[in-house]
Amino acid sequence: MTDPKPDNKRLAPSTIAAQAGQFVDPATGGVSPPIHPSTTYARDAEYELMGASSYSRDHNPTYAQVETVAARLEGGAEAQLFASGMAAITAFLETVPGGAHVVAPEVMYHGTLDWLRRMAERRGVEVTLFDAADPAALAAALRPGATDVVWIESPVNPTWDVIDVAQAAEAAHGAGAVLCVDATAATPALMRPLELGADAVMHSATKFLNGHSDVMAGLLVTRETDARWEEIKRIRLLGGGIPGPFEAWLLLRGMRTLFLRVERASANALAIARHFDGHPKLDAVLYPGLESHPGHAIARKQMQGGYGAMMSLLTRGGAAEARTVATATRVFVPTTSLGGVESLIEHRATVEGPESLVPPNLLRLSVGIEDAGDLINDLEQALEAI
Ligand SMILES: Cc1ncc(COP(=O)(O)O)c(C=O)c1O
Repeated sequence: MTDPKPDNKRLAPSTIAAQAGQFVDPATGGVSPPIHPSTTYARDAEYELMGASSYSRDHNPTYAQVETVAARLEGGAEAQLFASGMAAITAFLETVPGGAHVVAPEVMYHGTLDWLRRMAERRGVEVTLFDAADPAALAAALRPGATDVVWIESPVNPTWDVIDVAQAAEAAHGAGAVLCVDATAATPALMRPLELGADAVMHSATKFLNGHSDVMAGLLVTRETDARWEEIKRIRLLGGGIPGPFEAWLLLRGMRTLFLRVERASANALAIARHFDGHPKLDAVLYPGLESHPGHAIARKQMQGGYGAMMSLLTRGGAAEARTVATATRVFVPTTSLGGVESLIEHRATVEGPESLVPPNLLRLSVGIEDAGDLINDLEQALEAI
Protein backbone atom coordinates (compact mmCIF):
# COMPACT_ATOMS: atom_id res chain seq x y z
CA MET A 1 0.00 0.00 0.00
CA THR A 2 1.31 3.44 -0.83
CA ASP A 3 1.82 5.77 2.06
CA PRO A 4 -1.24 8.05 2.14
CA LYS A 5 0.82 10.98 3.43
CA PRO A 6 4.17 10.72 1.64
CA ASP A 7 5.02 14.28 2.66
CA ASN A 8 4.93 13.24 6.33
CA LYS A 9 8.23 11.31 6.27
CA ARG A 10 9.79 13.58 8.89
CA LEU A 11 7.20 12.98 11.61
CA ALA A 12 8.41 11.75 15.00
CA PRO A 13 8.06 7.98 15.55
CA SER A 14 5.43 8.54 18.27
CA THR A 15 3.26 10.43 15.75
CA ILE A 16 3.73 7.69 13.14
CA ALA A 17 2.64 5.09 15.72
CA ALA A 18 -0.33 7.11 16.99
CA GLN A 19 -1.69 7.43 13.45
CA ALA A 20 -0.74 3.88 12.44
CA GLY A 21 -2.46 2.79 9.27
CA GLN A 22 -4.13 5.07 6.82
CA PHE A 23 -4.30 8.61 8.11
CA VAL A 24 -7.88 8.87 6.85
CA ASP A 25 -9.45 6.06 4.81
CA PRO A 26 -9.88 7.69 1.36
CA ALA A 27 -12.89 5.48 0.56
CA THR A 28 -14.97 6.41 3.62
CA GLY A 29 -13.23 9.15 5.61
CA GLY A 30 -12.89 6.74 8.54
CA VAL A 31 -10.06 7.59 10.93
CA SER A 32 -9.65 3.94 11.88
CA PRO A 33 -8.02 1.87 9.15
CA PRO A 34 -10.20 -0.65 7.27
CA ILE A 35 -9.70 -4.45 7.40
CA HIS A 36 -9.28 -6.28 4.10
CA PRO A 37 -10.35 -9.88 4.67
CA SER A 38 -10.36 -10.90 0.99
CA THR A 39 -7.92 -13.69 0.13
CA THR A 40 -8.05 -12.97 -3.62
CA TYR A 41 -8.19 -9.77 -5.68
CA ALA A 42 -9.90 -9.22 -9.02
CA ARG A 43 -8.41 -8.22 -12.36
CA ASP A 44 -9.78 -5.55 -14.73
CA ALA A 45 -10.87 -5.73 -18.39
CA GLU A 46 -7.20 -5.84 -19.50
CA TYR A 47 -6.59 -8.65 -17.01
CA GLU A 48 -4.43 -6.30 -14.93
CA LEU A 49 -4.63 -6.42 -11.12
CA MET A 50 -6.92 -3.68 -9.84
CA GLY A 51 -4.72 -2.95 -6.80
CA ALA A 52 -1.41 -4.04 -5.25
CA SER A 53 -2.76 -7.40 -4.08
CA SER A 54 -3.33 -10.60 -6.02
CA TYR A 55 -3.53 -13.30 -3.33
CA SER A 56 -3.25 -12.77 0.43
CA ARG A 57 -0.41 -15.23 1.07
CA ASP A 58 1.70 -12.84 -1.00
CA HIS A 59 0.23 -9.44 -0.22
CA ASN A 60 -2.77 -8.03 1.60
CA PRO A 61 -3.60 -4.33 2.13
CA THR A 62 -4.04 -4.85 5.90
CA TYR A 63 -0.58 -6.45 6.32
CA ALA A 64 0.82 -3.71 4.12
CA GLN A 65 -0.48 -1.07 6.52
CA VAL A 66 1.33 -2.74 9.44
CA GLU A 67 4.48 -3.16 7.34
CA THR A 68 4.48 0.50 6.30
CA VAL A 69 4.22 1.65 9.91
CA ALA A 70 6.89 -0.84 11.11
CA ALA A 71 9.33 0.21 8.37
CA ARG A 72 8.82 3.88 9.20
CA LEU A 73 9.17 3.33 12.96
CA GLU A 74 12.47 1.48 12.45
CA GLY A 75 13.75 3.72 9.65
CA GLY A 76 13.98 0.69 7.35
CA ALA A 77 13.41 0.18 3.63
CA GLU A 78 10.70 -2.48 3.97
CA ALA A 79 9.03 -4.75 6.52
CA GLN A 80 7.36 -8.16 6.36
CA LEU A 81 4.63 -9.30 8.71
CA PHE A 82 4.59 -12.92 9.90
CA ALA A 83 2.22 -15.20 11.81
CA SER A 84 4.42 -15.10 14.93
CA GLY A 85 7.81 -13.95 16.11
CA MET A 86 9.14 -17.48 15.50
CA ALA A 87 7.84 -17.42 11.91
CA ALA A 88 9.86 -14.21 11.39
CA ILE A 89 12.96 -15.66 13.08
CA THR A 90 12.89 -18.92 11.15
CA ALA A 91 12.32 -17.07 7.84
CA PHE A 92 15.41 -14.95 8.47
CA LEU A 93 17.57 -17.89 9.58
CA GLU A 94 16.37 -19.97 6.63
CA THR A 95 18.50 -17.67 4.42
CA VAL A 96 21.69 -19.06 6.01
CA PRO A 97 23.26 -21.56 3.59
CA GLY A 98 24.10 -25.08 4.81
CA GLY A 99 27.68 -25.19 6.14
CA ALA A 100 27.76 -21.46 6.97
CA HIS A 101 28.39 -20.09 10.45
CA VAL A 102 26.04 -18.23 12.82
CA VAL A 103 26.92 -16.38 16.02
CA ALA A 104 24.37 -15.77 18.80
CA PRO A 105 24.21 -15.31 22.60
CA GLU A 106 24.18 -18.51 24.70
CA VAL A 107 21.26 -17.17 26.77
CA MET A 108 18.44 -15.53 24.81
CA TYR A 109 14.88 -16.38 23.78
CA HIS A 110 14.92 -20.19 24.03
CA GLY A 111 12.88 -20.75 20.85
CA THR A 112 15.60 -19.06 18.78
CA LEU A 113 18.26 -21.17 20.50
CA ASP A 114 16.25 -24.34 19.83
CA TRP A 115 15.93 -23.40 16.15
CA LEU A 116 19.70 -22.74 15.89
CA ARG A 117 20.37 -26.17 17.45
CA ARG A 118 18.04 -27.71 14.88
CA MET A 119 19.85 -25.89 12.06
CA ALA A 120 23.14 -27.30 13.36
CA GLU A 121 21.74 -30.85 13.53
CA ARG A 122 19.70 -30.91 10.33
CA ARG A 123 21.35 -28.44 7.95
CA GLY A 124 25.04 -28.53 8.91
CA VAL A 125 25.01 -24.87 9.96
CA GLU A 126 27.75 -24.18 12.49
CA VAL A 127 26.63 -22.17 15.50
CA THR A 128 28.89 -20.42 18.03
CA LEU A 129 27.16 -19.19 21.16
CA PHE A 130 28.79 -16.44 23.20
CA ASP A 131 28.42 -14.99 26.70
CA ALA A 132 26.51 -11.72 26.29
CA ALA A 133 27.84 -10.48 29.65
CA ASP A 134 31.39 -10.45 28.23
CA PRO A 135 31.83 -7.40 25.92
CA ALA A 136 34.70 -9.09 24.00
CA ALA A 137 32.95 -12.44 23.43
CA LEU A 138 30.94 -11.59 20.29
CA ALA A 139 33.99 -10.45 18.29
CA ALA A 140 35.94 -13.53 19.44
CA ALA A 141 33.16 -15.83 18.19
CA LEU A 142 33.28 -14.49 14.61
CA ARG A 143 34.95 -16.41 11.79
CA PRO A 144 35.85 -13.87 9.10
CA GLY A 145 34.66 -15.08 5.70
CA ALA A 146 32.57 -17.93 7.17
CA THR A 147 30.14 -16.17 9.53
CA ASP A 148 26.95 -15.38 7.63
CA VAL A 149 24.67 -14.05 10.37
CA VAL A 150 25.19 -12.53 13.80
CA TRP A 151 21.90 -12.77 15.70
CA ILE A 152 21.53 -10.79 18.91
CA GLU A 153 18.96 -9.52 21.34
CA SER A 154 19.49 -6.34 23.32
CA PRO A 155 18.67 -6.30 26.16
CA VAL A 156 19.05 -10.09 26.23
CA ASN A 157 16.07 -12.11 27.48
CA PRO A 158 15.94 -12.97 30.43
CA THR A 159 19.22 -11.77 31.97
CA TRP A 160 18.89 -8.29 30.40
CA ASP A 161 22.59 -8.08 29.58
CA VAL A 162 23.06 -5.21 27.16
CA ILE A 163 24.88 -5.83 23.87
CA ASP A 164 26.36 -2.76 22.18
CA VAL A 165 24.49 -2.85 18.85
CA ALA A 166 26.81 -0.40 17.05
CA GLN A 167 29.87 -2.40 18.13
CA ALA A 168 28.18 -5.69 17.15
CA ALA A 169 27.34 -4.28 13.69
CA GLU A 170 30.90 -3.13 13.14
CA ALA A 171 32.31 -6.50 14.21
CA ALA A 172 29.78 -8.46 12.10
CA HIS A 173 30.44 -6.36 9.01
CA GLY A 174 34.20 -6.66 9.51
CA ALA A 175 33.79 -10.46 9.31
CA GLY A 176 31.54 -10.25 6.22
CA ALA A 177 28.37 -11.10 8.18
CA VAL A 178 25.03 -9.35 8.63
CA LEU A 179 23.60 -8.36 12.00
CA CYS A 180 19.96 -9.04 12.88
CA VAL A 181 18.66 -7.68 16.21
CA ASP A 182 15.68 -9.20 18.01
CA ALA A 183 14.50 -5.93 19.56
CA THR A 184 11.27 -7.32 21.03
CA ALA A 185 12.13 -6.15 24.56
CA ALA A 186 13.33 -2.67 23.59
CA THR A 187 10.62 -1.93 20.99
CA PRO A 188 11.03 0.86 18.39
CA ALA A 189 9.80 3.27 21.07
CA LEU A 190 13.15 2.94 22.89
CA MET A 191 15.74 1.69 20.39
CA ARG A 192 16.23 1.81 16.61
CA PRO A 193 18.84 -0.85 15.72
CA LEU A 194 19.03 0.03 12.01
CA GLU A 195 20.25 3.52 12.93
CA LEU A 196 22.90 1.85 15.11
CA GLY A 197 24.21 -0.11 12.10
CA ALA A 198 22.16 -3.36 12.18
CA ASP A 199 21.03 -4.82 8.85
CA ALA A 200 17.68 -6.13 10.06
CA VAL A 201 15.40 -5.91 13.08
CA MET A 202 13.03 -8.58 14.30
CA HIS A 203 10.07 -8.18 16.66
CA SER A 204 7.78 -10.67 18.28
CA ALA A 205 4.84 -8.34 17.65
CA THR A 206 2.90 -10.66 19.97
CA LYS A 207 4.52 -8.66 22.77
CA PHE A 208 4.80 -4.87 23.14
CA LEU A 209 3.89 -3.88 19.57
CA ASN A 210 0.42 -5.36 20.00
CA GLY A 211 0.50 -4.91 23.76
CA HIS A 212 -2.73 -6.62 24.80
CA SER A 213 -1.80 -10.35 24.95
CA ASP A 214 -4.35 -11.18 22.27
CA VAL A 215 -2.48 -11.42 18.93
CA MET A 216 0.35 -13.64 17.66
CA ALA A 217 2.50 -11.86 15.06
CA GLY A 218 6.09 -11.21 14.04
CA LEU A 219 7.90 -8.55 12.03
CA LEU A 220 11.16 -8.27 10.15
CA VAL A 221 12.38 -4.86 9.01
CA THR A 222 15.32 -4.53 6.62
CA ARG A 223 17.71 -1.67 6.05
CA GLU A 224 18.14 -2.58 2.38
CA THR A 225 16.05 -4.52 -0.11
CA ASP A 226 18.96 -6.82 -1.00
CA ALA A 227 19.08 -10.45 -2.21
CA ARG A 228 18.61 -11.82 1.32
CA TRP A 229 15.47 -9.71 1.73
CA GLU A 230 14.04 -11.00 -1.57
CA GLU A 231 14.70 -14.52 -0.30
CA ILE A 232 12.90 -13.75 2.98
CA LYS A 233 9.87 -12.54 1.02
CA ARG A 234 9.96 -15.74 -1.04
CA ILE A 235 10.15 -17.83 2.15
CA ARG A 236 7.05 -16.09 3.53
CA LEU A 237 5.20 -16.46 0.24
CA LEU A 238 6.03 -20.16 -0.12
CA GLY A 239 6.06 -21.09 3.58
CA GLY A 240 2.81 -19.25 4.19
CA GLY A 241 3.70 -17.98 7.67
CA ILE A 242 1.25 -15.08 7.55
CA PRO A 243 -1.32 -13.91 10.11
CA GLY A 244 -5.00 -13.37 9.36
CA PRO A 245 -6.10 -9.84 8.39
CA PHE A 246 -8.03 -9.43 11.64
CA GLU A 247 -4.85 -10.13 13.68
CA ALA A 248 -2.97 -7.66 11.48
CA TRP A 249 -5.64 -5.05 12.11
CA LEU A 250 -5.60 -5.66 15.89
CA LEU A 251 -1.82 -5.25 15.78
CA LEU A 252 -2.21 -1.96 13.95
CA ARG A 253 -4.60 -0.80 16.64
CA GLY A 254 -2.18 -1.86 19.38
CA MET A 255 0.71 -0.03 17.71
CA ARG A 256 -1.22 3.24 18.02
CA THR A 257 -0.64 3.24 21.79
CA LEU A 258 2.87 1.73 21.71
CA PHE A 259 4.71 4.80 22.92
CA LEU A 260 2.31 5.56 25.79
CA ARG A 261 2.31 1.95 26.99
CA VAL A 262 6.09 1.52 26.78
CA GLU A 263 6.75 4.87 28.44
CA ARG A 264 4.46 4.02 31.40
CA ALA A 265 5.63 0.40 31.72
CA SER A 266 9.31 1.45 31.59
CA ALA A 267 8.73 4.04 34.31
CA ASN A 268 7.00 1.36 36.43
CA ALA A 269 9.90 -1.06 35.84
CA LEU A 270 12.46 1.54 36.89
CA ALA A 271 10.47 2.28 40.07
CA ILE A 272 10.31 -1.46 40.88
CA ALA A 273 14.02 -1.98 40.15
CA ARG A 274 15.03 0.94 42.37
CA HIS A 275 12.73 -0.20 45.17
CA PHE A 276 13.93 -3.83 45.22
CA ASP A 277 17.65 -3.22 44.54
CA GLY A 278 19.40 -4.48 47.68
CA HIS A 279 16.24 -6.14 49.09
CA PRO A 280 17.13 -8.73 51.80
CA LYS A 281 15.09 -11.50 50.06
CA LEU A 282 16.89 -10.96 46.72
CA ASP A 283 20.40 -11.76 45.45
CA ALA A 284 20.06 -9.29 42.58
CA VAL A 285 17.78 -7.14 40.46
CA LEU A 286 18.67 -7.42 36.76
CA TYR A 287 17.55 -4.23 35.01
CA PRO A 288 19.62 -2.08 32.60
CA GLY A 289 18.05 1.09 33.99
CA LEU A 290 19.86 0.67 37.32
CA GLU A 291 23.09 2.67 37.35
CA SER A 292 24.82 -0.31 38.98
CA HIS A 293 23.92 -2.59 36.02
CA PRO A 294 27.09 -3.46 34.03
CA GLY A 295 25.32 -2.58 30.75
CA HIS A 296 23.82 0.70 31.97
CA ALA A 297 26.20 3.02 30.07
CA ILE A 298 25.60 1.18 26.78
CA ALA A 299 21.85 1.09 27.39
CA ARG A 300 21.89 4.86 28.04
CA LYS A 301 23.77 5.36 24.76
CA GLN A 302 21.55 3.21 22.54
CA MET A 303 18.10 3.50 24.17
CA GLN A 304 16.03 6.67 24.41
CA GLY A 305 13.06 7.35 26.67
CA GLY A 306 13.52 4.46 29.09
CA TYR A 307 15.16 1.09 29.65
CA GLY A 308 12.18 -1.11 28.93
CA ALA A 309 9.54 -2.97 30.89
CA MET A 310 11.46 -6.24 31.27
CA MET A 311 13.52 -7.17 34.32
CA SER A 312 14.45 -10.18 36.42
CA LEU A 313 14.75 -10.79 40.14
CA LEU A 314 17.18 -13.36 41.54
CA THR A 315 15.54 -14.59 44.74
CA ARG A 316 17.45 -15.82 47.80
CA GLY A 317 17.56 -19.64 47.68
CA GLY A 318 16.88 -21.73 44.58
CA ALA A 319 14.14 -22.78 42.20
CA ALA A 320 11.69 -23.74 44.98
CA GLU A 321 11.85 -20.32 46.64
CA ALA A 322 11.53 -18.54 43.28
CA ARG A 323 8.44 -20.58 42.37
CA THR A 324 6.96 -19.85 45.82
CA VAL A 325 7.24 -16.11 45.13
CA ALA A 326 5.84 -16.48 41.58
CA THR A 327 2.73 -18.16 42.92
CA ALA A 328 2.24 -15.78 45.85
CA THR A 329 1.58 -12.66 43.77
CA ARG A 330 -1.93 -11.22 43.53
CA VAL A 331 -1.46 -8.50 40.90
CA PHE A 332 1.36 -10.00 38.80
CA VAL A 333 -0.05 -12.95 36.83
CA PRO A 334 2.15 -16.09 37.03
CA THR A 335 2.58 -17.04 33.37
CA THR A 336 4.83 -16.87 30.33
CA SER A 337 5.05 -14.17 27.62
CA LEU A 338 5.56 -10.45 27.97
CA GLY A 339 4.68 -7.05 26.63
CA GLY A 340 1.01 -6.78 27.61
CA VAL A 341 -0.63 -4.00 29.61
CA GLU A 342 -0.91 -6.44 32.54
CA SER A 343 2.14 -7.40 34.65
CA LEU A 344 3.39 -10.99 34.43
CA ILE A 345 5.84 -13.01 36.53
CA GLU A 346 7.54 -16.18 35.33
CA HIS A 347 9.96 -18.81 36.64
CA ARG A 348 11.97 -19.08 33.42
CA ALA A 349 13.98 -22.23 34.24
CA THR A 350 10.74 -24.24 34.64
CA VAL A 351 9.61 -23.18 31.16
CA GLU A 352 12.97 -23.70 29.44
CA GLY A 353 13.75 -27.15 30.89
CA PRO A 354 16.97 -28.89 31.97
CA GLU A 355 19.20 -27.55 29.12
CA SER A 356 18.53 -23.94 30.15
CA LEU A 357 21.45 -21.81 31.36
CA VAL A 358 19.00 -19.43 33.07
CA PRO A 359 19.71 -19.27 36.85
CA PRO A 360 17.25 -21.45 38.82
CA ASN A 361 16.37 -18.54 41.13
CA LEU A 362 15.47 -16.14 38.28
CA LEU A 363 11.99 -14.66 38.13
CA ARG A 364 11.25 -12.71 34.95
CA LEU A 365 8.92 -9.74 35.26
CA SER A 366 7.05 -8.22 32.35
CA VAL A 367 5.93 -4.95 33.91
CA GLY A 368 2.60 -3.57 32.79
CA ILE A 369 0.92 -0.21 33.01
CA GLU A 370 -0.80 -0.65 36.39
CA ASP A 371 -0.11 1.62 39.38
CA ALA A 372 3.58 1.30 40.36
CA GLY A 373 2.70 1.28 44.07
CA ASP A 374 0.35 -1.67 43.63
CA LEU A 375 3.05 -3.61 41.76
CA ILE A 376 5.68 -2.90 44.42
CA ASN A 377 3.30 -3.84 47.27
CA ASP A 378 2.39 -7.05 45.47
CA LEU A 379 6.01 -8.14 45.10
CA GLU A 380 6.75 -7.16 48.72
CA GLN A 381 3.93 -9.35 50.02
CA ALA A 382 4.94 -12.22 47.68
CA LEU A 383 8.55 -12.08 48.94
CA GLU A 384 7.22 -12.53 52.50
CA ALA A 385 6.36 -16.11 51.45
CA ILE A 386 10.07 -17.07 51.54
C1 LIG B 1 12.63 -12.00 22.71
C2 LIG B 1 11.67 -12.89 22.00
N1 LIG B 1 11.86 -13.14 20.70
C3 LIG B 1 11.02 -13.94 20.00
C4 LIG B 1 9.94 -14.55 20.60
C5 LIG B 1 9.04 -15.45 19.79
O1 LIG B 1 7.88 -14.77 19.47
P1 LIG B 1 6.44 -15.50 19.24
O2 LIG B 1 6.05 -16.13 20.53
O3 LIG B 1 5.58 -14.37 18.80
O4 LIG B 1 6.63 -16.52 18.18
C6 LIG B 1 9.69 -14.32 21.95
C7 LIG B 1 8.55 -14.97 22.63
O5 LIG B 1 8.47 -15.02 23.83
C8 LIG B 1 10.58 -13.47 22.66
O6 LIG B 1 10.40 -13.22 23.97
